[in-house]
Amino acid sequence: MDLAEQYRRQYGWRAWADAYDALPELAGARVLDLGCAVGDQAAALARRGAQVVGVDGNEQLLALAKARGIEGADFHAGDLRDPQVGDGFDGIWASFAAAYFPDFGHVLSRWSELLRPGGWIALTEVSGLFEHKPIPVAAQQLLRHFARESAAAGRYDFDMGAKLTDFLSAAGFAVTLQRTLADRELSFEGPAEPEVLQAWAARLQRMHLLRQRAAQDCPSLADDLLACLGSADHSTQCRVHFVIATLTQRS
Ligand SMILES: C[S@@+](CC[C@H](N)C(=O)[O-])C[C@H]1O[C@@H](n2cnc3c(N)ncnc32)[C@H](O)[C@@H]1O
Repeated sequence: MDLAEQYRRQYGWRAWADAYDALPELAGARVLDLGCAVGDQAAALARRGAQVVGVDGNEQLLALAKARGIEGADFHAGDLRDPQVGDGFDGIWASFAAAYFPDFGHVLSRWSELLRPGGWIALTEVSGLFEHKPIPVAAQQLLRHFARESAAAGRYDFDMGAKLTDFLSAAGFAVTLQRTLADRELSFEGPAEPEVLQAWAARLQRMHLLRQRAAQDCPSLADDLLACLGSADHSTQCRVHFVIATLTQRS
């Protein structure tokens, strides 16, 4: 299954309606979707009346977004570190994009320049992606070590969701809403549904660096984690954080 199909499936496992319902008025609003992938969230925002500009660095996903012909949404290739899309936007939507920037303050400061004064930003991001139990100690240690190493190397911060409000405050935003979203793939109790388990297997397959670390230190890692996710007494500390904030001053 390709990445685009994975994103499509994931869309159904997230409580997106709860997030959209909490957004400021969308009718007529100019909204940026940063890290738009195949355009699912852009399509939903456009359906609610927004004029959406989606930006993503993955040309293949972007081509799929463009091919949908979504009324009210345009899509552009670009680097999220410095999107070249003009400014004066009423709102920014960025879901599961912040974690790619462990030093998120710099990126957020650039994003704030794209908003009109008083504009809003809505961020969705995960924390504790690998915090699932029951799992053998060796596998848990490797996953925690890998997460720390990824953040320290500037690759990805698996705990970014829990840091969003601090980054937003430091960048001159006032947080107006902070909550977690239900998620049938990332933040569920009890055994994973069969399709969710497949998605986790595909995710682990895509994570080449993690597979390298596991080959050296814990060859049973993928089996251990999948068994944990599928077990009757599975529980997790993983959370999907959703934050809305308003720009009060530029950092
Ligand atoms: C995990 S996906 C999230 C997609 C969608 N927002 C969602 O919530 O389902 C992250 C997206 O960000 C894009 N991305 C990550 N880093 C980027 C960068 N530096 N510049 C542009 N796009 C980037 C990826 O191509 C991918 O489409």
